[in-house]
Parts: sequence; structure tokens; C-alpha cells
Amino acid sequence: MSADPVLSSKSILDRLSLTGKNALVTGGNKGIGRAIAHAYAQAGANVAIIGRNENDSKAVSEEIASLYKGIKVINFTCDVTVENEVNATIDAVVKEFGSLEIACNNAGIAEWVDAQDMTFASWKKMISNNLDSAFLCAQAQAKYMIRQGYGKIVFTASLSGKVSNYPQHQAHYNSAKAGVISLARCLATEWAPYGVRVNTLSPGFTITPLLDDLKKTEIGQKYYPEWISRIPMKVMGEVTDMQGAAVYLSSEASDYATGMDLVIDGGYLAW
Ligand SMILES: NC(=O)c1ccc[n+]([C@@H]2O[C@H](COP(=O)([O-])OP(=O)(O)OC[C@H]3O[C@@H](n4cnc5c(N)ncnc54)[C@H](O)[C@@H]3O)[C@@H](O)[C@H]2O)c1
Repeated sequence: MSADPVLSSKSILDRLSLTGKNALVTGGNKGIGRAIAHAYAQAGANVAIIGRNENDSKAVSEEIASLYKGIKVINFTCDVTVENEVNATIDAVVKEFGSLEIACNNAGIAEWVDAQDMTFASWKKMISNNLDSAFLCAQAQAKYMIRQGYGKIVFTASLSGKVSNYPQHQAHYNSAKAGVISLARCLATEWAPYGVRVNTLSPGFTITPLLDDLKKTEIGQKYYPEWISRIPMKVMGEVTDMQGAAVYLSSEASDYATGMDLVIDGGYLAW
């Protein structure tokens, strides 16, 4: 008779622990990525912060190193839209840590522009920063994860990948995030035989520098009450609201979850 899994499994809190794991977060020096990097470190993982701005990445890695003892924190400067930079950075992370179990591909940018006025350059920039980067990072990470027979890839997608988010016009961003959700499903099915799980975390409106920048615009101020009125919980999310989902999707507790999208949006999509 096979063992009763309820009685023989490690405790759920042990399975949520990331102790002994090596993790990276792209865009880990700001906003949601910074919160996820902190959460990984709190859960016991070594963390690599990957960002474009070296000073910001250094500041966040020093902050994490001072708060959580017994883990290693490193940082790398990389533009995640540039293939050779991405490959070299992932190679360097693995060289430094010895292995890579967890990758949170979170870097992204947003912009509002009416589709009829959108330049092709603007379209390509949004697809490149949000979707091409997701593919490049995951491919470079999977090279190591497939070889070791285990890995967790988490993309930060968005509720805008599931609906045409209203009232701001961002067809390029929404399309890129829908692409990220689809990419995760495709990679999940291709890489399941190798033990590599691929999922997306889709935040709703979350208070970060990205949203603050958009909110400072005249049109952003006009939209703010509209967004709040459409969120059943009547508040925007904090970056810390994303931490539990990120740790879950990166831990052994979610080993049977792959190809799924975990939406954290205060109920926005439920209406
Ligand atoms: N804030 C929100 O309301 C919200 C909602 C849904 C989804 N998201 C997504 O969450 C992720 C994080 O967003 P945030 O709100 O924390 O934004 P943010 O601007 O605070 O942080 C984004 C980070 O990504 C980095 N980045 C962007 N392009 C990069 C590139 N090419 N190479 C390297 N680093 C790059 C930025 O430098 C920054 O560190 C993004 O993918 C965003 O689309 C945000």
C-alpha cells in the first residue's frame, strides 16, 4: 500500500520555504520586483537582483543583505531585451550560485497611447520589453533548469493580459501581457517532462513607481477614480500583496501547478 500523502509529506510551511534555493528577479530593484526579491530572501533563498540601473540594484541588494542573514545577494546590470546580455547574465548568476532553481521574470514597462496614433516603434518597444524579454530570459534559464531536472519560472504578467483594461489605451502593452500568459502555458507544457514549472502572476492595479508615473499625468489623475470604482475592494494593491503568490509559485508547495495564471487584483476581474 502506498504511503498516505497527507501523513507522509513535509509540512506545508516547510514546502513553502525557499531555504537552499537560488533565485533571481528581473526588474528586482523597484516596485513589485523589489517586493518579490525581499520575499524570496525572507523565505530563505539566495537572490540575484537583475536590473538596468546599477545604483538601484546595488541599493536593493544591500538593503536585503542587511535585513536577512545567512543568504547571498548579488546584483547584475542587464537590459533584458538584449539577447547576449541576458545569456551572459544568466550564465553569471549560475556561476556565482552554482545552480538556479527560481526565476521571476518581472521587468516590464507601460505606456498609454491611442492605437490609431501609435507608432510602430512604440508598439515594438512595448512588445520587446514585456514579451521578447520574457522569452529570452526563460530560454536562458531553462538551459540550466532542464539539465538539473527542476525549476520554477514565474512571469509577472497583468490583468491587462486578460481584458482590455479600461479606460486607458494600451493595445501594445495588453497584447504583450496576453502573450506572456500564452508563452507561460506553452513553456509549461513543453518543459513539464523536465520538471520545469512555468506560471504567471498577474497583478491588478498596484502602487509602484510605474503606476505613480502614469498617475502624475493629467489623464492619469482623471482615470484614478474610475479605476478605484471598478475594483471591488476599493483600493489599489500594495507590492507586498504580490509576495505570497510569488513565494507560493516558486516553492515546492506549488510543484503540481504549471501553466496557470494567478491573478491578484482585489476582485477586478470578478465583475
Ligand atoms: N504596477 C502595476 O499596477 C502593475 C500591474 C500589472 C502588472 N504589472 C507588471 O509588473 C511588473 C513590475 O512593474 P512595476 O509596477 O513594479 O514597475 P516598476 O517600473 O516599478 O519596475 C519595473 C522594473 O523593471 C525594470 N525594467 C524594465 N524594462 C527593463 C529592461 N529592458 N531591462 C531590465 N530591466 C527593465 C525597470 O528598470 C524597473 O526596475 C511589470 O512587468 C509590469 O508590467 C504592474
